[in-house]
Amino acid sequence: MCGIFGYTGHNPAAPLLIGGLKLLEYRGYDSAGIAVLNGSKEISITRRAGGTDSVARLAAAIDELTPAGKVGIAHTRWATHGEVAERNAHPHRGHSGSVAIVHNGIVENYLHLKAELKEAGYKFLSDTDSEVIAHLVAREIDRGANLAAAVGNAMRQVEGAAAVVATSVAEPDKIVAARLGNAGGIVIGAADGAYMVASDIIALLPHTNTVCYLESGQVASITPDRCEITQLDGKAVKTVFVTSTRSADMAARGRFPHFMAKEIAEQPESVTAAMRQRVDLATGRIALPEFNLTPEQALAINRAVFIGMGTSLHAAMNGASALEALARIPAYAENASEFRYRNPVLDSHTLVVSVTQSGETADTLAAMELARDSGCLLVTAVEAEGTQATRLANVTLPVRCGQEIGVAATKTMTATMVTLSLMAARLASLRGNLSEQAEAKLAKALSSLPALTGIALERVEPIKKLADDLTAYSHLLYLGRGAQFPVAMEGALKMKEIAYIHAEGYAAGEMKHGVNALISKDMPTIAIAPRDAMFDKMVSNVNEVKSRGGRVIAVTTDGDDVMKSLADDVLYVPLAHTLFQPLLNIIPLQMLAYHTSVALGMNPDKPRNLAKTVTVE
Ligand code: G6P
Repeated sequence: MCGIFGYTGHNPAAPLLIGGLKLLEYRGYDSAGIAVLNGSKEISITRRAGGTDSVARLAAAIDELTPAGKVGIAHTRWATHGEVAERNAHPHRGHSGSVAIVHNGIVENYLHLKAELKEAGYKFLSDTDSEVIAHLVAREIDRGANLAAAVGNAMRQVEGAAAVVATSVAEPDKIVAARLGNAGGIVIGAADGAYMVASDIIALLPHTNTVCYLESGQVASITPDRCEITQLDGKAVKTVFVTSTRSADMAARGRFPHFMAKEIAEQPESVTAAMRQRVDLATGRIALPEFNLTPEQALAINRAVFIGMGTSLHAAMNGASALEALARIPAYAENASEFRYRNPVLDSHTLVVSVTQSGETADTLAAMELARDSGCLLVTAVEAEGTQATRLANVTLPVRCGQEIGVAATKTMTATMVTLSLMAARLASLRGNLSEQAEAKLAKALSSLPALTGIALERVEPIKKLADDLTAYSHLLYLGRGAQFPVAMEGALKMKEIAYIHAEGYAAGEMKHGVNALISKDMPTIAIAPRDAMFDKMVSNVNEVKSRGGRVIAVTTDGDDVMKSLADDVLYVPLAHTLFQPLLNIIPLQMLAYHTSVALGMNPDKPRNLAKTVTVE
């Protein structure tokens, strides 16, 4: 949610800022802007707002008229306060225009601060909460503080979580970054004769692999040859730069028309990456070195709660069923935004597993803090290295699928499902619930997963045809039972997110309790009905839909001819081990949403009103 980039060095800043924004666009794209400092003379600000191509329009404007200067800050916005309009786009100027800031997060006490600043004569030009920070920084400078102290003092007046980067004509070679709580990360990159800051390491990698992660409550004061970190009150903190092993080409779209298409297609490799050196086919053993619990610790767990948001919640639901099935630990999944506020019963025997590909989702981090403070054993499954989730958790399980850019999650979900199944197997084994034969069987099933994923991906032609048909509908129903229920939820979520078609994911058993009233020829039903223990029940559901005049699209497994005789359309997926069938069933649903979105002329990578990383609640 919002991308921040900053540069101080010896090269023209504007093109570098635009380059950074292009790589951060996935975080929010309803507006974009840069501020470039031209020595101690002035701060020049260029902003564009509206649509989903604000970064491209900003880049064109900068091409035409490039502001001079070697220091600057930049921002891509996902609106929280104030409509999408140029005046609300960042950067925002502080009083008298001598300061500019970019901000990620929400200033919870902004109404109070705004009233106070207005009373003191500060003029507001936007409807945002962020502008308050610009004026607070300017006021601190007017009171005699240097930029770093001004930002630190301003942040101490702010309630809520925030990531801020500021610049001022009073110190023309400097940018100052600060973090408060979990409103997205700030990573500082050290390059030759320059420093950069960004919300995500991905924007730094084209320039450097030497990075430092700013912690909550810290301020970084940065010039082209120096980076000093302090606490908000100015107390010095040791600055530690590390070398990242990630590479810049992780973000390249390659031959694909969209990142989402690339990420869907990458799943055979990403599923493999999630199990590399964790599944040993020769011995039939499943290892997960990062999950280094002792048998005593494993036996002390008496229940497990999986938390996440969006697609990660669906991966969490899948992980909870896998854990309960294999390790026989009572497990359930819960939306992190609900969990964090309902005062759940937690103790040191509770295993809490947070699922967050970005490691930054505000609600998930808050739920993790609650779990940590309650003494739970806290595990996180993440894609993004070095993020806040990894710092909160006792155990980090990297899902290792590579950065995902498309806003709608695809490969991160399937890689997470694999990773969580490995964790479930490890816990089962540590607790004596998994025989060597059963473990070997699982290892074998896992090893066939990349190939089966590849086969599922090849079956795209019938999906494209169906996608064309679906463009005519405004409502879709996705039904599943048991392990396929999260699959139905995920299929519906993908369709909503990127094709803007209203879609409901339902437990098929619920149909008689309301949904049946909606069945008609105008709302096709997508029934997730592999040949598993629930198959006969799904047959009844499909019959019920058919007898009420509804169109049925069945997702079933190879070899089935029952669904073929019942449903209007059938999408076949390869048959897999029960534990991994949901993963395969998700593939056609991802493709269906993608091709429907394309057929409707939309950009699946950048759905309206959404962002990849939701760093505000
Ligand atoms: C946003 C994204 C989703 C993602 C969810 C949770 O809504 O658009 O694709 O599943 O956040 O994100 P996380 O980073 O915590 O997995």
